[in-house]
Amino acid sequence: MLAARLRAAGCVYAEEEAALLLDAAGLLDAAGPSGGGAAELERLVVRREAGEPLEQLLGWADFDGIRLQLEPGVFVPRARTLLVAREAERLARSAAAPATVLDLCCGAGAIGALLQRELPGVELVAVDLDPAAIAAARRNLEPAGGVVRQGDLFDAVPIGFLGGFDVIAVNAPYVPTAEIAHLPPEAREHEHRVALDGGPDGLALHRRIVAGARRWLRPGGALVIECAERQAEHSAALFARAGFSSEVLADETLEATAVRARLR
Ligand SMILES: C[S@@+](CC[C@H](N)C(=O)[O-])C[C@H]1O[C@@H](n2cnc3c(N)ncnc32)[C@H](O)[C@@H]1O
Repeated sequence: MLAARLRAAGCVYAEEEAALLLDAAGLLDAAGPSGGGAAELERLVVRREAGEPLEQLLGWADFDGIRLQLEPGVFVPRARTLLVAREAERLARSAAAPATVLDLCCGAGAIGALLQRELPGVELVAVDLDPAAIAAARRNLEPAGGVVRQGDLFDAVPIGFLGGFDVIAVNAPYVPTAEIAHLPPEAREHEHRVALDGGPDGLALHRRIVAGARRWLRPGGALVIECAERQAEHSAALFARAGFSSEVLADETLEATAVRARLR
C-alpha cells in the first residue's frame, strides 16, 4: 500500500523507501511506535509525493555505507563522488602519515568522512560557504577530529595549513547556470543554488580553485576535482596552464569524471 503510493509518485525504489520512511516514523520499532507514528508517516509520505528528496526527509544520506547527517537544502552526496573520494584516499595513502587533506566545498562532508573512516588519524580540514552545509559537516566530521570552517574557498582555511596539504579533494558546483532549470526537481527545488551553480560554463569555481591551490599544497601534493565528462579536458587544461601536470580520471560504473592535478 505504502510502496504502491510511492511508486505512483515516481519513486523507483519504492519498497526500500517505504521501509526507510516507516523506520523514520518509528513504526518499525519492535517495542511499539517510537517516533511520530502514523501521523508522522503520513506527513513524510505527502512530502515525498511532492518531490522532496528521500534523504532530506530522513535527515541523513548514505555514502558508501557511511550515514551522513544532512540539513535542509544541503547537497545530497552522490555515489559518483566516490571517484574523487577514493582517489583522494589513494593519494593520501602515498603521503607520509598522517596525511593532511582539505575537503574543499565539503557540503555535508562526504569525502572527508570516507577519508576519516579509511585513514584513521588523517588530518582533515573541511570548508564550505553555506552555513547549512557547515552545520551538517560539523556533525559528521568533528567527532573524528576534522576541522570544519565556513567561508569562501581557501579564504576559510586556517593559515597554518598554507603549503601543508598532501591532498586537496573537491566536489565544487559545476552545473552551467543555464542548465540548472533542467535539473530534476529534487535538486533544483531542494538543494541550495550555491551547491549547484558553476557559472556560465560550469567551471567558474574550477578557475578560482586553479588560481588558489598551488600555495596550499605541499611540494609533490595533488588535487582531485569532480567535473562533468564534457568539462574534463577543459578543466585539465586549466590546471596544466597553471603549471600542474593534470590527467582526466573516469569511472564508467559510477558514471563519474574527475581531474587529478599534481604540482610540477
Ligand atoms: C556539489 S556540492 C558538493 C558537496 C560535497 N563535496 C559532496 O560531494 O557531497 C558543492 C558544495 O560547494 C559549496 N560551495 C559553493 N561555492 C563555494 C565557495 N565559494 N566556497 C566554499 N564552498 C562553496 C556549496 O555550498 C556546496 O556545499
